[in-house]
Amino acid sequence: MVSADIDESAPVYGAHMAGAGDTAAHGRKPLISLDGVSRHYEIGGGIVKALDAIDLEVGAGEFVVILGASGSGKTTLLNVIGALDVPTAGRIEIGGNEVTGASRRELFALRRHEIGFIFQSFNLFPGLTALENVEFGADVAGRGDARAAAGRVLEQVGLADRARHFPHELSGGEQQRVAIARALAAGNPIVLADEPTGELDFETGVQILELLHDVTHTSGTAVLVVTHNREIARVADRIVELSSGRIVSDEANVPAAMSDLRW
Ligand SMILES: Nc1ncnc2c1ncn2[C@@H]1O[C@H](COP(=O)(O)OP(=O)(O)O)[C@@H](O)[C@H]1O
Ligand SMILES: [Mg+2]
Repeated sequence: MVSADIDESAPVYGAHMAGAGDTAAHGRKPLISLDGVSRHYEIGGGIVKALDAIDLEVGAGEFVVILGASGSGKTTLLNVIGALDVPTAGRIEIGGNEVTGASRRELFALRRHEIGFIFQSFNLFPGLTALENVEFGADVAGRGDARAAAGRVLEQVGLADRARHFPHELSGGEQQRVAIARALAAGNPIVLADEPTGELDFETGVQILELLHDVTHTSGTAVLVVTHNREIARVADRIVELSSGRIVSDEANVPAAMSDLRW
């Protein structure tokens, strides 16, 4: 079991599976690759297998919905991919680089330069305007042209005319669009969204997923979206279903039109 470690230079992943270069014999490496990834918790003498031997590959420009009931391991899966949590076993590669054995400082750099996060409750800064919230996302990732990038991305999500509005002046769907813009403005190759439609009505939720779907294809970003809503998942072009910490299906999907969805 790996313990939390505050020595920033110390490896936080077990280095037990070191050995790079053994997967590149043919073809390009996927952007995200998980090989036998587990996250177990020891609780009161028992073991909770939040993730149990997950194998998953996601390429650039893929829009993947992670579907599963509450407690199935969806958040844990996003957290280990996003370097917010450390697996207890297995191996993760991001952009062809092995993350196994990375120090806390290296994980920090990974979050900053590879990942964008979108949350269920938007998590915008209430005292910043829409534009400033998005600019913050670009700035944290170290983009020199943060203000210009923010303006462009806000336009991309259809909110150019709301740039000077504060979060409390926006609807839930608009706030989530700002949060999407903030994640995209970082210009990072991976966007992770944990139940981004959880606080929205069904129709707005579908619009948010359709927006994420569109930006995935135009930007080449890999987007992983978690939901427990099977109808909303039908908007995806790939659905990975989790149950009790295991992948029980991983299928291509023909995205359903809004009018075909039932709520
Ligand atoms: N810090 C923790 N300690 C113990 N068990 C946890 C912890 N975090 C999550 N779990 C357990 O792991 C399982 C998966 O949780 P989670 O990934 O949050 O599921 P989901 O996001 O699909 O609802 C659940 O059984 C949950 O209770
Ligand atoms: Mg969750």
